[in-house]
Amino acid sequence: MNERLDLSATAPRPTPALTPTLTLTVSSKQEIAHGITLFELAAADGGALPPFEAGAHLAVTTPNGLLRRYSLCNPPSERQRYVIAVKRDEQGGGGSRSMVDELAPGSVLMAAPPENYFPLARGARRHLLIAGGIGITPLLSMVHELRARGEEFELVYVSRFPESTAFLDELAAPELAGRVRIHHSHGDPARALAIEPLLAEHAEGSHVYCCGPRRLMQAVREGTRHWPAGSVHLEDFGTSEDPKAGGDQLFSVRLERSGITVAVPPGTSILEAIRSRGVEAPSSCESGTCGTCRTRLLAGKAEHRDYVLDDDEHDTDIMICVSRAQAGCGQLVLDL
Ligand code: FES
Repeated sequence: MNERLDLSATAPRPTPALTPTLTLTVSSKQEIAHGITLFELAAADGGALPPFEAGAHLAVTTPNGLLRRYSLCNPPSERQRYVIAVKRDEQGGGGSRSMVDELAPGSVLMAAPPENYFPLARGARRHLLIAGGIGITPLLSMVHELRARGEEFELVYVSRFPESTAFLDELAAPELAGRVRIHHSHGDPARALAIEPLLAEHAEGSHVYCCGPRRLMQAVREGTRHWPAGSVHLEDFGTSEDPKAGGDQLFSVRLERSGITVAVPPGTSILEAIRSRGVEAPSSCESGTCGTCRTRLLAGKAEHRDYVLDDDEHDTDIMICVSRAQAGCGQLVLDL
């Protein structure tokens, strides 16, 4: 098990159930950067909203009926509004397009109370926040919270172009001077910010948090191999290239202890496939970052898409929420 990742961020949840008990209304909608729309949401009855912590997200039912999770980016001290930013994804499953195209001020949106799989570490001496693109959203809430607490932090925010970068004005506030570094690559890999030097030294009590595209998270994962247990915190959902998208093939998993074989079609995770057959397995982040769904791999070659396992664990373990069989490997055998 990789002990560097913070596995205490959330308790395992046996099923991905969502109960949309909150009725929200859209109180404002504004495009804040190219392709990114900010929504302010309020309780439909005008009352106080359930509290949330920095790093938390809101699971909503989109107008076209999909479940989507969006990080809350306003200060956690606010109880009259939730603020989310939605990047309209032309290639995705349609949830973000539905949100951006169909919601308007006054629209009703059903949601579950906020959950937090990505909390700030308690007792940390310093927090390094690394955001990529729309991955800024949970980290912006952390910036608000850390400022309120008076704790030491730095935000490093990478994006491709200024015009597609959300919250530039907010992050240029004088009170954040010296604590925010924004870097634009302008779409040129040669101009991308080198992440490894930021992580080369680990000062005692430092924690790093990263939310952004898969390659950024991998860079942080690689660059923190020498950091202590529990000091690296990653958040993936809604920000990376969809690991289920494109090129996936049908394969099967044989569950050794259950004695059944389950087909895993493209677009479906192993976790989803086995649950559909009534086999339970614990999970939490369902994005390959927390380690909760770690399962023994008894046979077969896996294509590992998580941020937890080390190379020397790839033949024996698999994160069934994101990883699949390698192309050409028709079946994995799991200790389930
Ligand atoms: S549920 Fe977190 S890594 Fe799979």
